[in-house]
This record gives sequence, C-alpha cells and structure tokens, in this order.
Amino acid sequence: MKVENWNNLIHEELFEIAENLKFEKNCFVIAHNYQFMEVQQIADYVGDSLQMAKVAAETDADMILLCGIKIMAETAKILNPNKKVLMAHPKADCRLALMKSADDLRKLKQKYPAAEVVCYVNSPATLKAESTITCTSANAIEVVNSLPKDKEIIFVPDRNIGAWVQFKTGRELFMFDSYCYVHQDITLQNVLELRKMYPDYKLIVHPECNLDVCKNADLVCSTSQMIDFVRKNDKVIIGTEIGMYDQLKFHFPYKKLVPLSSRMTCEDMKKTTLLGAVQALYFEQNEIEVPDEIREKSLRSLQRMFEIN
Ligand code: 13P
Repeated sequence: MKVENWNNLIHEELFEIAENLKFEKNCFVIAHNYQFMEVQQIADYVGDSLQMAKVAAETDADMILLCGIKIMAETAKILNPNKKVLMAHPKADCRLALMKSADDLRKLKQKYPAAEVVCYVNSPATLKAESTITCTSANAIEVVNSLPKDKEIIFVPDRNIGAWVQFKTGRELFMFDSYCYVHQDITLQNVLELRKMYPDYKLIVHPECNLDVCKNADLVCSTSQMIDFVRKNDKVIIGTEIGMYDQLKFHFPYKKLVPLSSRMTCEDMKKTTLLGAVQALYFEQNEIEVPDEIREKSLRSLQRMFEIN
C-alpha cells in the first residue's frame, strides 16, 4: 500500500493503515502496558515484560513491531534471531538499563566469584549475557528462590527490586546502585499523604519503588498483575508509570482509581506515538540487531527464566 501526506491522517486512518500493513507484512505488534492508549490499540498483544517476552517467543509472524523501550525489542530479537524486529521509536531507551555496563558487572562478579547472577529484564543484552538467569517484576522472587539456598547471588541492575526481593526471600543479594528514575522519585511521604486522603483505597505499587514504599503497599506486583488486582477491587491507588493508570481507567471506567503521583511519567515510554509506530512499520525502520555471541549467551539466561515459570 502507498501512503502520502502522513501528517494529515486522523487516528482512524492510521488504525486502518496499521491493520493493512500488519496483514501484508505478517507482522505481530507487541506493546507494553505503559504505552499511549492509541498505540496499544494497534497492538496484537499488550502486556508486562514477562508476557511480552513469552508472546515474542511464541509468534510465528515474519516480523515483530515492538512498542515499548529498547530492552524489550532486544529481548524479542534474542528470542527471534531470524525475524525482523522493529522498534516503534528509535530512541526509546531505558535509563535504568543504561546506568551500568557489562564491565561493571564483570567487576562485581570478580568480587563474588562463586555467585550466580540474576539480571532484571530492564537491562541491555550485554548484561543478560553475563548473567545466569533473567527475571522480571512478575517473577523476581520465584527466580531468586529457584537458586540453591547455599548460593551467593548478585542481583542487577535495579537496587529497588533487589531490596524488595531480599526483604521477601531473606536472601542476601549483592547489587548495583541503579534505579528507575520514575519509581525512585516516589517517597514514603507521598504514600502516607495519599493513604490519608483515600483511607479505604488499596495501594498497589511496582517493585521498582523504594523499599519503604513497597512495604507500605497492599500489593507489590508487575503491571499486568495490577490489571488482575483492579479487576477484583473497586478503589485502588496505582503506584507506577502513569500509562498504567490511563489503561486501567480506559478498561475500568466505573472503578475509583487514583494515580499515586502524576509525576510518574517515563519519557522514553512516551516517545512512541501512533504515527511513529505506523511509520516504523510502513518504512520498516529502527531494526534491532543483537550480535550473535551476546544473543546466544543472553538467550540462555532468558530460557532459564522460562523454565522456572
Ligand atoms: P513490568 O515488568 O511490570 O512490565 O514493568 C516493566 C517496567 O519497565 C517497569 O518500569
């Protein structure tokens, strides 16, 4: 199909173009829960990082368009070396993932040579390649518990998920000091104020929040686990990136939902627009590549995670 005058197209036209292109190119579109609603609307699957990785591993499409951040597109490519994997926006990175390099991890491994490495999925492929097993926010506790009790564990890169897992499992974890700036920003003070304003609401937070915030929540969970919680509860404070709140309001308009903070905006997740995503598919732009050696090593780390689920 041929498209002209991209800037004059309305949403409905872009939705139609996206549907035609997906069919023509046999492309599977995966979007993260934080994406703008109009981007989610062109996706064949919307989910959390674990679900995104699982559907990427299972699709038999020829091409994948990833609406999210670079680490998610890399994961899809690691699982699909022979497919074309496109990113909806070329510069949607993850600041947490960029804080430490594979060299930093090698140094930490030298300090604890007997340790197994658990690598949170919001990390570059080069870090996953240096790790024993990957985890996501949905399974970090199970992943750590799957390792023998007498094993030392390095947990990278997010110190807040690490602290939460350490608290829940009682295992000592050796960590980096990296964090997600969106979740790090939330303080216990914010939580206490909201609790006071909404005393009969439940509070759910993402484990990338500080430990004292997590300890004060009714549930600490992944973004998709938040959807399950809201399905069963009517008054909920949502403690994660604002896109999750937008999606929940869209799907559950009659529930009483409050964002923990309206400041919780991930600039990278918000780089993807409907127009940008459709153009990436039309022009087959922003293709992701992962060098073979890194791909093979990081694949083993991802496969170990799938085995325990
Ligand atoms: P999920 O694992 O819940 O998808 O979270 C990913 C993320 O980027 C959190 O900031």
